[in-house]
Order: sequence, then structure tokens, then C-alpha cells
Amino acid sequence: MKYLIFVVTLLLLGTSLAKQDDWNFEEANVSVLSKSIDSFIKPNQGSVVLFYGKNKESEKFMNIFLKVSTSYMEDGNEKIKFGVVNVEKEFNIKSKFEIENTPTVIYYQKGLEVAEFLLGKSRSNFEQFLESPTKFPSQPFRGPASWGEDQSLVAHLSNRNFTSFLKLNPYSLVMFYSPNCGHCVKMKPAYSYASIIVRNENIGAFAAVDCSTSKQICTQYNIEGYPTLHLFLNSKIDMAYPGDRSKEDLITFFKENKFVEPLSGNEGSSKEDTNFILSPNLPPNPKSKKNIKEEL
Ligand SMILES: *[C@@H]1O[C@H](CO)[C@@H](O)[C@H](O)[C@H]1NC(C)=O
Ligand SMILES: *[C@@H]1O[C@H](CO)[C@@H](O)[C@H](O)[C@H]1NC(C)=O
Repeated sequence: MKYLIFVVTLLLLGTSLAKQDDWNFEEANVSVLSKSIDSFIKPNQGSVVLFYGKNKESEKFMNIFLKVSTSYMEDGNEKIKFGVVNVEKEFNIKSKFEIENTPTVIYYQKGLEVAEFLLGKSRSNFEQFLESPTKFPSQPFRGPASWGEDQSLVAHLSNRNFTSFLKLNPYSLVMFYSPNCGHCVKMKPAYSYASIIVRNENIGAFAAVDCSTSKQICTQYNIEGYPTLHLFLNSKIDMAYPGDRSKEDLITFFKENKFVEPLSGNEGSSKEDTNFILSPNLPPNPKSKKNIKEEL
């Protein structure tokens, strides 16, 4: 028995040591990044970077990452470059890129974080993500614990991805909240529900910023009470969300494209220009109000 335990321990030790050394990055055409990361993510061409550490999840996903990179190489597909960063060695990168846990997988273009791979880390999900990284996750993902268990397509933003998210989502509603505010907790189910309808109809995006952790953003936008809801049009604050906090109101607001209409009482204000042109990938109201009611 003792002998068996000894052998098993040796075997386990052996495989866990071997794994990290066994990765043949070169053969899979994966770049090992340190300072070179800045120039690696700079070009217009997309690049995907896996930030990994010493844990089972990282190891598991590394194997998928290498396989997918290899298959891109074998297909002669040069659309995406693959790179890895060992954050247990590269402390500077870890803090500069605000990597909180591993594995973290991020797609970059022109030096900007364009999207994070947030779905279940399977090979098919990863391949789908690489096909269209800028498309919002096609299935709900979980926010921080304070957000609860409601299904939602609310994007949880931090200093790292706030700017790029608004750039990619010209019609965004952002909820600035604090985990221990009662009104925020009360509003979350309606907000979560509305986020799914609005996202699925491609008429806007819902996001949330936790001001207890992303202080920088909340200071920048002078957030004083929670929750505060701001509409962002083309990355700029357009207005405070004027409706009430029910799911019906949230959805109707987007369906009726109220973003692009001057609100009563707002005319003649110092707002620059309210005649914005609808972005071509956002269809006009696809459904009548009657249908919305039926869906709810
Ligand atoms: C390896 O990837 C680079 C991009 O990182 C690409 O330019 C090159 O052609 C790839 N090599 C092979 C053999 O496919
Ligand atoms: C934004 O970054 C945070 C980590 O700072 C991450 O938890 C979150 O999932 C990211 N959100 C999106 C939409 O990529």
C-alpha cells in the first residue's frame, strides 16, 4: 500500500511538473510574451492572448489554446496571432493589464482590449469566439457575486474594458452601482431581464460598473448616488436615463430609439447635436409596442 501511494505521488508530481515544461509553444506557433506584448497587440490584425498561471484551469485551457493555434497554422489562417503570458513571472504585465485571475483570455486590436473570452472554456466556444470576438457572448454569463444569480446579458465593466466596450456598443445603458445599496439590489432583476431582450434584438447594450472596485470610472463621471443610470451614445454620456426602473420602461426606451430624439425639456440645452445617424448595424424598431407587451 505504501509503495502504491509512493508511486502515485511520483506520477502526479511528474505530470504536474511535466505539463508546464512540455508545452511546445513554438511548434504551435504561439508567441511567449513579456515586454514584447505591447508591439504584439498593436497591429490592426487581431491577436489573442492567454494570461495563465499555475492552476488546473490554466493548464486545461492551455492545451485547447495550443491546439486551436496549431489548427490555424495548419489551415494557413493568419487572421489572428496567438500569444501567452505567464503572469506568475510577468508581474508588471499582470498589474499593467489588470489581470485578476487566470486563465484570462483577451482579444486585442490596435493595442485595445476588444473582447474577453468569458464563455465556458471549451474548444468549440473558443473557436466560436475567435470567429467573431466582438460579438457579445451569445449566452448569459455570471457577474460578480453581488450581482446574484439572475440570467442576464449585462456586461460587467472595469477600468480595463469600459472604454472599449462603449466604443463597440454605441447605444449603451450603464448602471453605476455599489454592492451594498438596497435600491441597486432591487433593480437588478428588471435590469437583467431587459438586458436580454435589448441585446437579442440588437438595439442596444446594458452594462454595469461596480463603483466599489472601479473607483476611477465612477470618479470620472461624478457618480454620487447609487444606482445612477447613464446612457452613452458613441462613447459619450448622452443623458441620464429618464425612464422609470421597470423592465417595461427599460425595454420600451430602447425599442422606441429614444436615444436619438431630443427629450422634452431638453430642447435648446447645450447638448451638441441630437440628430445622430443610426449606426447601420442597428435595425430600427423591429416590433410594435403591442408585441413587447406580449413578450413580457
Ligand atoms: C505563425 O504566426 C504568425 C503570426 O503570429 C504568422 O505570421 C505566421 O505566418 C505563422 N506561421 C506559420 C508557419 O503559419
Ligand atoms: C471587464 O473586466 C473585468 C475584470 O477587470 C472582467 O471581470 C469582466 O468580465 C470584463 N467584462 C467584459 C464585458 O469583458
